[in-house]
Amino acid sequence: MTESCTFVIFGATGNLAQNKLLPALYHLEQAGRLPADMRVLGVGRRDWDDAGWRKVVQQDLESRARGGLDAELFARFSERLDFFQGDLNDTAIYARLKERLESGGRYPGNIAFYMAISPADFGVVSHELAAVGLNNGADGWRRVVIEKPFGSDLESAEILDRRLHRDWGEHQLYRIDHYLGKGTIQNILVFRFANLMLEPLWNRNYIDHVQITHAESRGIEQRAGYYDAAGALRDMVQSHLLQMLTLVAMEPPASLDADSLHDEKVKVLRSIRPIAQSAVHAHAFRAQYTRGSVGGEKVPGYLEEAGVPADSSTETYCALRLFIDNWRWRNVPFYLRTGKRLAANNSMISIRFKHPPQQLFRETHIDRLEPNWLLMNIQPNDCLRLELQVKQPGLELLTETQRLDAASCGLAEAGIDAYEALLLDVMEGDSSLFLRYDEVQWAWRVVDPLLKVWAMERDYIHTYPAGSWGPPEANRLFLREDQDWRNRLETDG
Ligand code: BG6
Repeated sequence: MTESCTFVIFGATGNLAQNKLLPALYHLEQAGRLPADMRVLGVGRRDWDDAGWRKVVQQDLESRARGGLDAELFARFSERLDFFQGDLNDTAIYARLKERLESGGRYPGNIAFYMAISPADFGVVSHELAAVGLNNGADGWRRVVIEKPFGSDLESAEILDRRLHRDWGEHQLYRIDHYLGKGTIQNILVFRFANLMLEPLWNRNYIDHVQITHAESRGIEQRAGYYDAAGALRDMVQSHLLQMLTLVAMEPPASLDADSLHDEKVKVLRSIRPIAQSAVHAHAFRAQYTRGSVGGEKVPGYLEEAGVPADSSTETYCALRLFIDNWRWRNVPFYLRTGKRLAANNSMISIRFKHPPQQLFRETHIDRLEPNWLLMNIQPNDCLRLELQVKQPGLELLTETQRLDAASCGLAEAGIDAYEALLLDVMEGDSSLFLRYDEVQWAWRVVDPLLKVWAMERDYIHTYPAGSWGPPEANRLFLREDQDWRNRLETDG
């Protein structure tokens, strides 16, 4: 049973709160998962009162609630919502906030502070909360939820972490990576560790290479300020893609408790072969989209997006080749790729197996025989697919590829959003799907050399037209000619 608690959302009027957090809380209400007297206190600069904010939330939810907004349910939900007006940089607001939380008996003493704000403010806000004593409460737990990116490189992440630890214990910090809340990502663990037949094949002896793709057809939306400073490597690879890699590559954990999982994930990250600055071009590739057409609609190039400086060399696409130097994976390439304004939305882990040692069938070259692939589609399809060779119907002994699908191919997992699972975990004190600091730290170590080299090469960046699958030059990362990107799961049969 979830204990009653108060959720304080810093940045209550921003995109994340509007698009993700409030819809997730509303859906938890719908599922009957919010404790009876739970409260949500939104903090923002706007001059709103409780009723004003509730109205705004209602309008937002009208387009975002699954199956439409239910008036009766919203009436119950909105009873939980209060607004606190204040500017985060005004230190006086924190004492006022404390007073509001602690007087009148309306707010449960278990409090989660959610930082849905600019990463630059994480340190200040968490420190000011502690300065007024909101980091400890005799009447309940206190937790801070921190969005990514945690720092902008290794050095800044270390500074932020030290700063947080001056005021908060590690057990109070919930570093969120929303990918870990996706059912299909958790399915990787189930698939690997609830089935025996894969484990003997899950290593360098049988696997040719692994691809992890996150492709998006959308652009940077209204996030130029954040995105232009971040770029695809920080925005997606340092967090979501490396997390996916750890789940594919990790050893079986001792149990599913938070530390056992984190320990195994950190071991993978620590084993990633460091990329020397002199080898960055051989291992990584970056590019930026130009004007093009996505789904039949003309879209501007990155440099034409509102708020992007005309001479920006921020990457909107990047691809990497990584190796994990351990017994299981040594010399198996892991190809990671992500991009905005690509041809389709698709997140997929594609595992290619090696060819059988001997070619018995009609194809004269073993390389022409299709290898086995295991495709784990995270979105939009939520599907595990194994591609196998079988005999073609007919008199001759010819092979063809057939697919074995598991899970609800074509059906997104009941539309449940990752934030619903993760917000519930925060309330229940389960940090297994959050990041321990050493995961963040080792992930920065992987990407830091690339960031350094790219920061020095501001004058040139490859391009690709919006609506394509990215620049063909990225194929130079493949070690062999018979390797190529798997772009998406074909669902036509
Ligand atoms: C976010 C990134 O963390 O993840 C965005 O900042 C990206 O740029 C998003 O679009 C992708 O998440 P999802 O859940 O839509 O695949």
